[in-house]
Amino acid sequence: MGQPLVIRREGFVEHVVLNRPDVRNAFNPALVEALRGWAVSTAASTDARAAVLSGAGKVFCAGGDLAAMSATIVASRDENVEDASRMATMFEALDRLPIPLIGRVHGAALGGGLGLASVCDIVVAADDAVFGFTEVKLGIVPSVISPYALAKIGRSAARELFLTGARFGAARAKEIGLVHAVVPADRLDEAVNRFVGEILSAGPEAVRHAKTLIRRVAGRPASEVSAVTAETLADRRVSGEGQEGMRAFLEKRTARWVVR
Ligand code: COA
Repeated sequence: MGQPLVIRREGFVEHVVLNRPDVRNAFNPALVEALRGWAVSTAASTDARAAVLSGAGKVFCAGGDLAAMSATIVASRDENVEDASRMATMFEALDRLPIPLIGRVHGAALGGGLGLASVCDIVVAADDAVFGFTEVKLGIVPSVISPYALAKIGRSAARELFLTGARFGAARAKEIGLVHAVVPADRLDEAVNRFVGEILSAGPEAVRHAKTLIRRVAGRPASEVSAVTAETLADRRVSGEGQEGMRAFLEKRTARWVVR
């Protein structure tokens, strides 16, 4: 048995590959722990500027490992709470990753696999990929992924898709906000690289602050966040990076951080 997660660094980009292709990259405890650990160590890294999450083999991710989960029948309720909490902690760590996380979805993203897509900032999907919050078909619930999925698709789509467990295609996934770009499977890497290129031409600190800003502001009335938004902008304007970016524009030159 190889590593459940393969991590490769290319320049400023972390490539993270789910690596249990025989079970369609289903999460077992080892994969959950590896993803959580990766998210925590990447959060501490100062030079990573983007991360790409993909799956080895035929599909992106088939969600929770049903073989491992069926073993939870003999576990106590408390043990099940502990196990589910570890998944919740992993999703939270990925959601709070300070750098952009780009999901590269091919084949299928089902159950927890859609949870992974939901904690990505940008998702690129193959046009033949299949999606579904299939948990209810198995008598369980898309529970630990619900905060992230709901934030992406909203209540209306969730009320249909969580309750039916129906599978749907990439076009629908894009329509409800789970996916940002749909391309033929053989152009997935090209599409991912386009997003990576955009991120690498933006100020690295600015990108991190933009991500934090979304979390601080989303769902709150403008009047409540006006101090935060004004201070964030002011801090960026006087920062070395903000000064460099604005000067580079005025001097018609490339900012120092741009990677070509
Ligand atoms: N957990 C554990 N094993 C899984 C799995 C899962 N979530 N999904 C697939 N597998 C295993 C299968 O049992 C099969 O094992 P086997 O080779 O020992 O028979 C192997 O992966 C290949 O699965 P198969 O269905 O033949 O592959 P496929 O490429 O035709 O289809 C999927 C891939 C993902 C579409 C299909 O496997 C599927 O629908 N899986 C269930 C997904 C699901 O409902 N997840 C929600 C979990 S909460």
